[in-house]
Amino acid sequence: MIDISARVKSLPGYPLAEIPSIKRRLVEAGVDVIDVGAGDNDTPPPQIAITAMNEALADPAYSKYGFQQGLPAFRQAASRWVEGRFGRRFDPVTEILPLIGSKDGLAHLPFAVVNRGDATIVPEPGYQAYLGGSILAGAEPYIAPLRRESDFLLDFTSIPEAVLRRAKVAFVNYPNNPTAAVATLEYLERSVAICRRHGILLAYDNAYCDLTFDGYRAPSIFEIPGADEVALEFFSLSKSFSMTGWRLGFAVGRAELIGALTRVKSYVDTGPFLAVQKAGAAVLDHAQEIVAPIREELQGRRDAAVPALRKVGFVLESPKAAMYLWVALPEGLPSAPFARRAMEETGAVVLPGSSFGPAGEGYFRIALTVGADRLREAAGRLGQVLQASRSGELATTA
Ligand SMILES: Cc1ncc(COP(=O)(O)O)c(C=O)c1O
Repeated sequence: MIDISARVKSLPGYPLAEIPSIKRRLVEAGVDVIDVGAGDNDTPPPQIAITAMNEALADPAYSKYGFQQGLPAFRQAASRWVEGRFGRRFDPVTEILPLIGSKDGLAHLPFAVVNRGDATIVPEPGYQAYLGGSILAGAEPYIAPLRRESDFLLDFTSIPEAVLRRAKVAFVNYPNNPTAAVATLEYLERSVAICRRHGILLAYDNAYCDLTFDGYRAPSIFEIPGADEVALEFFSLSKSFSMTGWRLGFAVGRAELIGALTRVKSYVDTGPFLAVQKAGAAVLDHAQEIVAPIREELQGRRDAAVPALRKVGFVLESPKAAMYLWVALPEGLPSAPFARRAMEETGAVVLPGSSFGPAGEGYFRIALTVGADRLREAAGRLGQVLQASRSGELATTA
């Protein structure tokens, strides 16, 4: 018998793990499934990425190991993009690290800074890689609940002093998944100050920085004076450019921290495929023109879905950024059975708030990954489930 490690055993179930098989069963049974579960947009990847990738595939040099250095052109494009977008310059060789998607960097980060008995600060509800990476590295995750009353901002002031003293990493993510909350500069200033005071690495997950609506602009943590000392920032090409499966992101920060993460990764992977990095460089150099229509499409979807959901009785904010709607459920209606029922009985796939941890209870998440009409249709079906759950029975099925 092989004994599975206590660390693996203590990992909670991954939120999206069982959805694909249930979805396949429903599709095979002829159900019209609307999947707004995963944050994986239906928009195609940019043509510029496809062209660059094709060129790279024809050149055998791109089929070699990338190692952690990867493609210098990608590091340079990432540096140019950060400078153009946020006005801060980072050295492409020492202060930027290509990642196999930002999840790679976020999940491996605790290995770079955590010792036995150390804590990490993990927002809940939140992206589950923070929790998994912490547990696998042997850290003790301290769960910081994100509450509506605090605008879903991770409230450092509510964390006990003893935890702050043991904490080595805090994961902070705005625009936020799943709540779609955004952070003010004042909030980020306070967070940087606390992390500096306690020597906590502030892992700023900015995967959704370009998916912003109504003229809102999401900041970089490096716009905050003093952040350089304690922060690493994580960017993703997945969401802004509809390239989730390509697996490309990058980390930015001072050389010592980037160096520590590079060391960890040099033992577990050999960097993103060089051809993907070539495509990524091309995309970053045309970022604004590529992301503008995606942003517009998402805003249109938001504007279709929010009123449709309100009309059928849901309570939700209209978000300024990210690609999610965080929808409140009536008190006493738990999110997992609600989502299960929506999927099984109407074919609408949403993520229950509880799948982001117990503090996500009372909500479910809709990803704006399908067109406006399908979102309206999904809202109608979810409204039926809401009604039926209130009256104890489902009136109609799709
Ligand atoms: C908050 C957040 N961070 C990071 C990621 C990871 O993105 P990727 O690994 O595709 O770059 C996701 C993906 O859903 C996310 O929601």
